[in-house]
Amino acid sequence: MARRRMVYEGKAKILYEGPEPGTLIQFFKDDTTAGNGEKHAQIEGKGVLNNRLSELFMTGLNNIGVPTHFIRRINMREQLVRAVEIVPLEIVVRNVAAGSMSKRLGIEEGTALPRPIIEFYYKNDDLNDPIVSEEHIIAFGWATQQDIDDMISLALRVNDFMSGMMMAVGIKLVDFKIETGRVYEGDFQRLIVADEISPDSCRLWDIETGQKLDKDVFRRDLGSLTDAYTEVARRLGVMPRNTSSGSGPKLVH
Ligand SMILES: Nc1ncnc2c1ncn2[C@@H]1O[C@H](COP(=O)(O)OP(=O)(O)OP(=O)(O)O)[C@@H](O)[C@H]1O
Ligand SMILES: [Mg+2]
Repeated sequence: MARRRMVYEGKAKILYEGPEPGTLIQFFKDDTTAGNGEKHAQIEGKGVLNNRLSELFMTGLNNIGVPTHFIRRINMREQLVRAVEIVPLEIVVRNVAAGSMSKRLGIEEGTALPRPIIEFYYKNDDLNDPIVSEEHIIAFGWATQQDIDDMISLALRVNDFMSGMMMAVGIKLVDFKIETGRVYEGDFQRLIVADEISPDSCRLWDIETGQKLDKDVFRRDLGSLTDAYTEVARRLGVMPRNTSSGSGPKLVH
């Protein structure tokens, strides 16, 4: 069997050439990093959970007409996606103050925001993904005004969809990050949601207890990341079998 060509290896995923032109295979690794790679660990089963959860969210978005790169899941760790030209911006939507916004602006974590706030960060690891304004984005040619309008509209639709889905299972969507990419269709180009949507890229708090069910569990050493992500998957009804090392008791039929 011919070896697949690897296109890119990032901190959490590997991209391989897909079976047809214009497609890629996205492989979800167990690697978990925080602080731009300063903290790094292998968390068994994380890739499987993120593959499943990203599939769930992206499929739902596709179904309500929010375009995403997701085509179909291939196996436990891999999914087929449309190849896009990634816009070098991370789009963050915040419903509740937390993380870097709380630190930067001195707003207490957990403060409900009067409306969703959108921020853009320039994707550049050497610069630690700095926050940028729309003026920077246009002046430096990362995206046009039309692109920015489209990114905001996509981000708000993702926010509405994800907030509702999470609320239904007792989880508050505090904030999340998406990436978008360009696809070309004839003479037209448009932006679609790419990369992943998972507990790695969201802040998720239990509505009753405030318990964190996202990557902050790892960033802040709050316990088992696998347990937190498994809880999210379980509540959403996509708890896959065989994600853990199987050290616990097993049912025998
Ligand atoms: N459909 C797509 N087509 C092309 N590239 C994509 C697509 N979806 C995601 N990507 C890119 O694939 C990479 C996924 O790898 P990963 O998330 O591990 O990267 P990373 O370590 O976070 O680094 P960075 O995002 O800074 O490149 C990212 O660079 C992401 O922008
Ligand atoms: Mg990434």
